[in-house]
Amino acid sequence: MYRPSAGSLERLQVSATDPDAAVVARAGVTLRRGGLVGLPTETVYGLAANAWDEQAVRRIFEVKGRPPDNPLIVHLASPDQLELVAATITPLAKTLAASFWPGPLTLVLEAQRCLPAVTTGGLSTVAVRVPDHAVARAVIATAGVPVAAPSANRSGRPSPTTAEHVAADLGDRIDLLIDAGPTGLGLESTVVDAKGGTPLVYRDGAITREQLGVVAESAGTQVPSPGTRHRHYAPRCAVQIVQPVDLIARADALADAGVRVGVVAPAQCAVPAALSVATFADAAELARILYAAFRDAEAAGVEVLLCAAVPETGLGRAVMDRLRRAAAAARG
Ligand code: TXA
Ligand code: MG
Repeated sequence: MYRPSAGSLERLQVSATDPDAAVVARAGVTLRRGGLVGLPTETVYGLAANAWDEQAVRRIFEVKGRPPDNPLIVHLASPDQLELVAATITPLAKTLAASFWPGPLTLVLEAQRCLPAVTTGGLSTVAVRVPDHAVARAVIATAGVPVAAPSANRSGRPSPTTAEHVAADLGDRIDLLIDAGPTGLGLESTVVDAKGGTPLVYRDGAITREQLGVVAESAGTQVPSPGTRHRHYAPRCAVQIVQPVDLIARADALADAGVRVGVVAPAQCAVPAALSVATFADAAELARILYAAFRDAEAAGVEVLLCAAVPETGLGRAVMDRLRRAAAAARG
């Protein structure tokens, strides 16, 4: 088994578009030897391990404090490797892969038996995607193995959009951290069941339902994606979702009551500078900055973070999903 050097996290900076070959090679070797590598994808930073290596994947769960029934997404360097992890590649999967890979769409398919149960959370299916990030793809290609990678946060915390976030949550419990600056999208991939004839959305994300076209309605009360059962995306402060017109009045009332309040608001809202944590122009920018805003609010000692609601179309749907989960989790 891989022996990590005693408690010292190695953090290497690279270009997001043209990563240094020596750093990529180092990460590839670390993965092949059973180590854990924090690396950027186009959505959020991932915590990568060889998906075929049971011990290495077990370490991901330990390091994150992740419930063992919550399976991981397997990342490939190229769409033509799909057969390595999926037993049945449906026509729908082929169509979606051709349209959206490389990119932030995760397909759930019947799993190849050679994948260890720890990777798939004991399910017969596997979630798989080809990330659209030069660093992630180069590292996976160099490792030469499928790479299991959940978001690189402690379980329940906001996903990391910078290497600093990864270091803050996981510190020296991982073997290598590749820093390529902030991630471009800031919001996780969309998880879609592609076993049937129509995509069934398990988790809204960076590919919108509008982009997917026709999607299947989810079957009643069934919870198809294990991750949706768990506490998620929660900062250490309370989160409240507020309509933009009510933001300033609510912020003033809380501040008057002695509450340390922070606000995430549309740029055109005249939020007093002392209360503003972050501003955004549209849902895409809110998606990009939301998790960092959560962590910035914590660092500033904010007790209640007010976040402006956005319309639930396009990326707004996934953003509102994350905001609701954060609001529910923070309440307790
Ligand atoms: O953008 C992303 O998806 C990032 C980057 C690193 O790729 N990864 C990510 O992974 O967000 P994670 O582990 O934080 O979320 C994976 C989600 C969870 O909700 C999990 O339950 C779901 O995918 N999932 C994994 N395997 C599944 C399966 N076989 N069936 C249904 N849902 C699955
Ligand atoms: Mg996650």
